[in-house]
Amino acid sequence: MAQMTTPTAEELAASGLGLAVDGAVARITLSRPRRRNAMTGRTWTMLARIGQTLPEAVRIVVVGGAGPTFSSGIDLDMFRPGDIDGEPTPLSLLADHPDDTAPLERAIAEYQEGFLWLRRADIVSVAAVRGHAIGAGFQLALSCDIRVLSDTARLCMKEPALGLVPDLTGTKPLVELVGVNRAVELCLTARTIDAEEAARLRLAEQVVADSELEPAVDELVAQLLAVPADAARATKELLLQAGRNDLETQARAERAAQLARLVAMAGAAR
Ligand code: CAA
Repeated sequence: MAQMTTPTAEELAASGLGLAVDGAVARITLSRPRRRNAMTGRTWTMLARIGQTLPEAVRIVVVGGAGPTFSSGIDLDMFRPGDIDGEPTPLSLLADHPDDTAPLERAIAEYQEGFLWLRRADIVSVAAVRGHAIGAGFQLALSCDIRVLSDTARLCMKEPALGLVPDLTGTKPLVELVGVNRAVELCLTARTIDAEEAARLRLAEQVVADSELEPAVDELVAQLLAVPADAARATKELLLQAGRNDLETQARAERAAQLARLVAMAGAAR
C-alpha cells in the first residue's frame, strides 16, 4: 500500500471533515452542516487516511458533527449517475464496468476502512451525537467504542428503506448491542429512535442535555486519559476478543496479558 501522508486542512475540508489533534486526543468533525453533514466516498476514504496517519501519541478519538445534526448519512448525490467531488459513485462504477462488480466491491471495502479503524485497541473512540445520525451516520456512531448522546439525538438505519443494506460495518455492533431480533425490527422498519430509547437499547453509554454534550465528552476523555495507556490497550484487546473466545481461551488470554503487564511493572520498578 502507498505510504499515507497526514491530510492537509484543505484535503480534510474537501472531504467534509475537520481534524484537531492535541496531544493524546484527536477530534474528528463531520463538517458539511449545510448538508447536515452528509458524507461521500471521499469522506470515508479520508476517515481511513486519518486513521492510518494518526500520531502515535493519540489515545482518544472523538467523532462529532458540526451544527445540530451528527450526520444525515450518505450524500444522496452518491445515488445519482456521474462522479461526485471528482470521484466515482457506486452507480458510475457500475456504469463504467457493467460486467464487473470488482471495482465497486473494492470501493466499498475502502469506504469500510474509514469505519473499521475506530475499533483499534490502541485508541478509544467516542461518538458525540447531537441530532440525527442516519444510515452511514448511525453506522459511524456504531463504529465507536462509546456513544455519548445529546437528548436531541435521533438514530435511524435508513438503508433498507432506500433499497440497500447497511454496509459500513454497522450490522455487527448493532446486533451485539441490541440482539438480532431488535436489530431486525430497527433495520426493517427503518424507524427513528430517540435518545431515551437508544439508551434503553444500550445504543448509548450516556445521554445528556444538549448543552452538556461537549462538557460530558470532555469529562469522559479526562477519565479515559487517567488510565495508563499500556493497561488501556491491553484491556481493550482482551475485551475485543471476549465475545468470540470460550471461557478457557479468554482466561488464558487474561493470564498472558496480565503476565505482560506485571513483567513491565517489575521492569519499571527495577
Ligand atoms: N444528502 C445530501 N443532502 C442532504 C442530505 C443527504 N443525506 N441530508 C440533508 N441534505 C440537504 C438537504 O437537501 C437540504 O439542502 P438544501 O438546503 O439545498 O435544500 C439541506 O441538507 C438541509 O436539509 P433539511 O432541510 O432536510 O434539514 P432538516 O434539518 O429539516 O432535516 C434530516 C435533516 C432529517 C437529516 C433530513 O435532511 C433527511 O432526512 N435527510 C436525508 C437522510 C437520508 O436519507 N440519508 C441517507 C441514509 S442511507 C445511508 O446513509 C447509507 C447508505 O445508503 C449506504
